[in-house]
Order: sequence, then C-alpha cells, then structure tokens
Amino acid sequence: MTDEEILALIQDETARQAQNIQMIPSENHTSEAVLAALGTRLSDKYAEGYPGRRYYGGCEVVDKVEDLARERAKTLFGVSHANVQPYSGSPANLAAMLAVLDPGDTIMGLSLPFGGHLTHGHTVSATGQYYKSAPYQTGKDGFLDYDAIAELAAKEKPKLIIAGATAYPREYDWKKFRQIADSVDAWLLADISHISGLIAGGVHPSPAGIADIISTTTHKTLRGPRGAMLLCNGEPSNPSKKPERTRNNLPSLIDRAVFPGLQGGPHINTIAGIAVALKEATEAEFKTYAKQIVANSRRLASQLSDRGFELVTGGSDNHLLLIDMTSKAISGAEAETVLDTVGITVNKNSVPFDARSPFDPSGIRMGTPAITTRGMKEPEMDIIAEIIDQAIESRSDQKKLNALSNQIKELAARHSLPS
Ligand SMILES: Cc1ncc(COP(=O)(O)O)c(C=O)c1O
Repeated sequence: MTDEEILALIQDETARQAQNIQMIPSENHTSEAVLAALGTRLSDKYAEGYPGRRYYGGCEVVDKVEDLARERAKTLFGVSHANVQPYSGSPANLAAMLAVLDPGDTIMGLSLPFGGHLTHGHTVSATGQYYKSAPYQTGKDGFLDYDAIAELAAKEKPKLIIAGATAYPREYDWKKFRQIADSVDAWLLADISHISGLIAGGVHPSPAGIADIISTTTHKTLRGPRGAMLLCNGEPSNPSKKPERTRNNLPSLIDRAVFPGLQGGPHINTIAGIAVALKEATEAEFKTYAKQIVANSRRLASQLSDRGFELVTGGSDNHLLLIDMTSKAISGAEAETVLDTVGITVNKNSVPFDARSPFDPSGIRMGTPAITTRGMKEPEMDIIAEIIDQAIESRSDQKKLNALSNQIKELAARHSLPS
C-alpha cells in the first residue's frame, strides 16, 4: 500500500485488536480468506440486478459469485431463497419492511432500551418514521414475556412483528412468535443478526420455516464480512410483473425491495466474502466454534455472578451477557472506560427498566464470539472474569489497573488473531 497514513492507521487498528480482547458481542474476527475476498477487483464491478438479469454488461463472472453465495446461504439455513445484496443489517431490515408493508402500517419490535435494534421501529430510525411503531418490552426479569407480546399484538394489530434483538442473552421461542403473528394475521420477521452463527452451528433453534422473512448481518457470530442477507421460502415470480403480497411471492417481493427498492449496485467483493464465510460455516470446526461461544458465555456468566455481578435474566444461553452495574456502584459508561483501560473492549448498554438515560445507561454488554475465534476456552473465561472483577473493584488504583492491563496483554499474546 502506498498511502502511508492509512497504512499506519490500519496497522494501529490491527495492533489494537491483537493486543486487547474484543468483547463487543456484535464483533468478530474474520478469517484471512474472507479478508482476501474483500480486497479484490470484484470491488470494481457494477452489477445492478440479479444473476442472469443485470443492467450492466460484463457480469458473467460476478453472476457466478453471487449464485454461489445464494446457494450456500440457502443450504446452510434451509430456505428456498436468499438475497445476499443488502449492504448491512439496517438496510436489510428496511428492505424486509418495504417488501411487505405500506407506509403507516404498524410494526412491533422489541423496544431499544430493552435490547431491540434501532431498525425495529425506533423513532430515530426510518423504520419508526415510515411505519407506526408499537414496541414491546421484556418482563421485569429481563426475559421476553410472550403473553404480554400477544396482548399488545391483539391491541395494536401490527402488520409485522419482529423477533430478534441486539442485547438479549437468551433463546428465542420462534413458534410462540409465529402463534402471536398468526393470531393477528401479521408477517413475522426474525432478525437473527446476532445469533446466525449459533444457528448455523446448531446451538440455537432456527426460525427457518417458521418466520416469513429472516434477516441477518453476516459479520457477527457468522464471522463474515460486514454485510447482510434476507432469507425466505416461496417461489420467484415473473420479474416483470409486480408480485402480490403473498407468502409464496416473498422471494420476488424481497428481491424487488432490495433492488431497485432500496439499493443500487451490490458490493460483489462483500458478496464473495459472504460466500467464503458461508462455506467456512458448513465445516465441522464451525460447529465446535459455535458450541464453544455458548460454553464460554455460560462460564463467564457463572464466574461473574459468583463475584456479585448482576446479570440480566441471571445468565446467558447464547453469546452475550447483559450486566446491570448498579450493584457495583458504577455506571455502564464508567465501567466501559475502566475495562477499556485494562484492554477489554465492551460497550455500555441499557438494561430493562433502566433508571438512567440511554446515553448514560446502567449496564454493559459483553460477548464471546471474538475471543472464542482466538481460541479462548473456559480457563480463559475464569481469568477474564477475575480481571473484570478486579478492574471494577480497583478502578481508582492506576497501579493495579496497569498490572491488570499487562495480564490482558499476555492473554491476548497467547491467542493471536486468525491468520
Ligand atoms: C439485531 C440487529 N439487527 C440489525 C443490525 C444492524 O446491522 P448494521 O449495523 O450492519 O446495519 C444490528 C446491528 O448491531 C443488530 O444487532
């Protein structure tokens, strides 16, 4: 690379990731093979449309790339149709809505301060501005309260219910969501962005065949490049005719919503990276990886609970932990800063019924996907839990924080980034 300034910053960021441990649950470290696909000539190519139906010439090679990605996604997730073009999770969710809703229709997703994503209908998101949002909450215990969701659905009569979250540490009961959606004749969108790698690895139930549409980012537990996919069942209809909004027409409805509804040319280099990640996710090692993510999360949860940390829902079934820091007399933002000082990257997060503001919430969210990619297992979780505990306890003792930071550096050095 000849741009010395950018090269130096790339090297700095790589060093930051390598010397610290990344515990933001939506982050991961991709393989070198995925990275290699991203920085290629595929990035140069315009390919508006879909394989076999492009608006540009010279697409004979990139058609094969996109077809491979689509086929791999279909096989891995057990669906009949995959759209691999969404630029990221947020446009994927908006495209799903564009496919089946009219402006002003009511949508029901998990409220942001309770763990939902912005694109599940928050007022600052286009999804909350173009659609009428009737958000549901978790129960006081932090678990999804399906009876309360059903009650709200009966009252609000949404056209779409979104199942899925960005900060929920437990399993989703897809069938219960289906029953609720059916009771009000609503579409069901399962946003599996956080857990798609766990589903691919067989350690979380799949919504395939239950939800109408599945959206997922590709860069979280699935360990691909930044991107997203929309998955569904049905049959593609005549592309020159506007499809009716039926379940069987979902493939065409979704494809038209992504392009030309919301996006222009697909990022073919990203789609190639997604194809590589999907292939990696079919390998036996990926199942072991997914299992270890959950085992690590559970171990970390029990180790932190033993040290007096208050976990929302009391534990974790997946890759993430949501911790209310109130009992440790520290805010989420302060805890994030203290842990950053010792080299553990987490993020501040609201907890259900948070008494503090979303900008300065009570909790932190942490996850195990990236450290599991680096080969860390239960013994390392014990070390990390102890360091987190000591860092929070000794937060005003800089000497102690320096010593803990050295311990993290040593741990990180023993577990390199994928090569
Ligand atoms: C559940 C969920 N959906 C959608 C998104 C949006 O993804 P992106 O940041 O790629 O737009 C996220 C991102 O964190 C997410 O957690």
